[in-house]
Amino acid sequence: MSRSPVTAHPLVRTAGGLAAAGAAALAWSLVEARWYTLREARVPVLPAGQAPLRVLHVSDLHLTPGQRRKVDWVRDLATLDPHLVVDTGDNWAHTGAMPALLRALEPLLALPGAFVLGSNDYLAPQPKNPARYLLPDARRAPARPPVELPWRELVGRLTSAGWRDLSNRRDVLEVDGRRLSLVGTDDAHLDQDRFPAAGGPDDVRGAGRTAPGVDLHVGVTHAPYRRVLDAMHADGVDLTIAGHTHGGQLAVPLWGALTTNCDLDTRRAKGLHGWPGARPDRPGGGGSSWLHVSAGLGTSPYAPVRFACRPEATLLTLVPA
Ligand SMILES: [Fe+2]
Repeated sequence: MSRSPVTAHPLVRTAGGLAAAGAAALAWSLVEARWYTLREARVPVLPAGQAPLRVLHVSDLHLTPGQRRKVDWVRDLATLDPHLVVDTGDNWAHTGAMPALLRALEPLLALPGAFVLGSNDYLAPQPKNPARYLLPDARRAPARPPVELPWRELVGRLTSAGWRDLSNRRDVLEVDGRRLSLVGTDDAHLDQDRFPAAGGPDDVRGAGRTAPGVDLHVGVTHAPYRRVLDAMHADGVDLTIAGHTHGGQLAVPLWGALTTNCDLDTRRAKGLHGWPGARPDRPGGGGSSWLHVSAGLGTSPYAPVRFACRPEATLLTLVPA
């Protein structure tokens, strides 16, 4: 007696196909999370006649001990010879990450720089359901008492190297013969942002859009909440630089990010845009300032995946408007 070949029910075949596709996507997302890339953008923002100014933007390293490949990749960024380094926070993700972070940043700390901190600079990450990340604003009470990271020592290390701490502060910096006025906030994701008044107690060097001799007014923040971007724009910044979003971290090919982990729209989850409206350059966004959001270089150690959203640093070449 001959037997007919065994064939699976169509539903079983479909389920099997979906499981295989899911496993392949997960495997790829683990690889992509380590596939660092340098993105470059030209920003026409300088006064007429000035030479280009190179600004290296690094963000969201979420460094843990042992991530040697990431450390070496970040060290190599110094070979771009930027005039200024801007670090928008979430540098680490482990209580023992200080040596690795200082090694990663060592060549960059020899350059002029400015920084703000993010929530992950203050507190060690906790396990969480990655699906929560896809909610519009994933803040919630921690499951366990948070563990504080040695952020005061980190601030001391960065400032002693000459980098300017812009957490709710203003500052001025001379780079390549240009005078930059800087304004920054502490992390809005933790509701620690207090926009510093021009001429106020945190304006130690008299910074501001209208300060004497200013060539460029730059805003720096970790999480690009709308209230911070509005305050930066009202302050007259030419360019705001931010991180935090991870570019959505898990994006849909040909569609983009599903979340920004803050109240910024997903269309501006990463890249160069205008605030409050469109730019490159200005269709419908007359009067807007520039906004650059980095997708960052890392992930939470509890969700070490990226999909259609490579980890990145950015070289912004500022040129005359
Ligand atoms: Fe981050």
